[in-house]
Amino acid sequence: MSSSSYCSTVIGLLLAFLLGGSLCNAQLSPTFYNETCSNVSSIVRGVIETALLTDSRIGASLIRLHFHDCFVDGCDGSVLLNNSDTIESEKEAAPNNNSLRGFGVVDDIKTALESACPGIVSCADILAIAAEESVSLAGGPSWDVLLGRRDGTTANRTGANVSLPAPFEAVDILKQKFSDVGLNTTDLVALSGAHTFGRAQCLTFSARLYNFTGVGDSDPTLNSTYLATLQGICPQNGTGIELTNLDLNTPDTFDNIYFSNLQTNEGLLQSDQELFSTNGSDTIDIVNNFSANQTTFFANFVVSMIKMGNISVLTGTEGEIRQNCALVNAATYGSDGLLHSSI
Ligand code: HEM
Repeated sequence: MSSSSYCSTVIGLLLAFLLGGSLCNAQLSPTFYNETCSNVSSIVRGVIETALLTDSRIGASLIRLHFHDCFVDGCDGSVLLNNSDTIESEKEAAPNNNSLRGFGVVDDIKTALESACPGIVSCADILAIAAEESVSLAGGPSWDVLLGRRDGTTANRTGANVSLPAPFEAVDILKQKFSDVGLNTTDLVALSGAHTFGRAQCLTFSARLYNFTGVGDSDPTLNSTYLATLQGICPQNGTGIELTNLDLNTPDTFDNIYFSNLQTNEGLLQSDQELFSTNGSDTIDIVNNFSANQTTFFANFVVSMIKMGNISVLTGTEGEIRQNCALVNAATYGSDGLLHSSI
């Protein structure tokens, strides 16, 4: 079914109406690769399943890559690009540097897809599919990923520094950064629920443990037992790169326990806990709702993921299908027209 006919089905229209028209991008379609790479999802899933055998965290890392891609100049695979003559890599932006991971698995997926259907599947779509497969493999919802994104030929390091949310920012700032890319407060809370799996380094939350307001204090919204646990994991003279689980109760499972953690003051990042602990915030009711009902959380999470995956996508003849996710094609094929070694 073409993207236009998909979007004009009764269900598509109804969902588009309910979601403010943003669910169905005019050019993305769940059936985009049906004729050209029909096994794309199972190939992506297979590579992730293999990676999970030795790295239980990899699914979390992959969905984060999709988020950091989409928030910076749209879902165009720009986050995957290495530095080159023309590219100031987003990998070196503060929110990404020494923290984004999973690039090797993306390369493995690309290699598997190039072998099955050469030159067809974009790196931006790989990230969108990998996000969905990772959630589903961790016990979360499955959904039809809209496909047909093309890869950008530019990166925006400054944009990554400015647009990506930081873990110490207040709810109003987080809302603004989501609103800047067309996402609302429900999207903010639902997508923050991705912190139901994966890890964070101590440096992203240690101010909460030792120096919250600059006078050697801790964050008063931190549960005292959890505070002591975290101080044990992150000593004051530590390196800051020690890891702990974003969800202390079910660290590798995609469920709604993240939200009950917030209700017991056991959110790891300040930006997590604020969703529940900021007085008068309209995020509190949403947290309570998602904590009470996992089905509601999953339904909202899927809607928000699809909205995020639609941010400023390149389609049709825009951009390119990269040969190597870390390089624009002009860098892969030199000015002599020959294929150069990739990384
Ligand atoms: C609301 C604003 C957000 C902030 C401030 C934020 C911040 C962070 C930080 C600081 C980390 C730890 C990074 C590290 O220590 O290496 C992290 C990890 C993670 N984030 Fe977020 N995040 C936000 C929203 C999201 C969204 C929207 C998603 C996905 C839909 C997401 C998915 C993840 C995942 C899965 C991890 C764990 C990654 C891993 O284990 O490799 N985050 N986030």
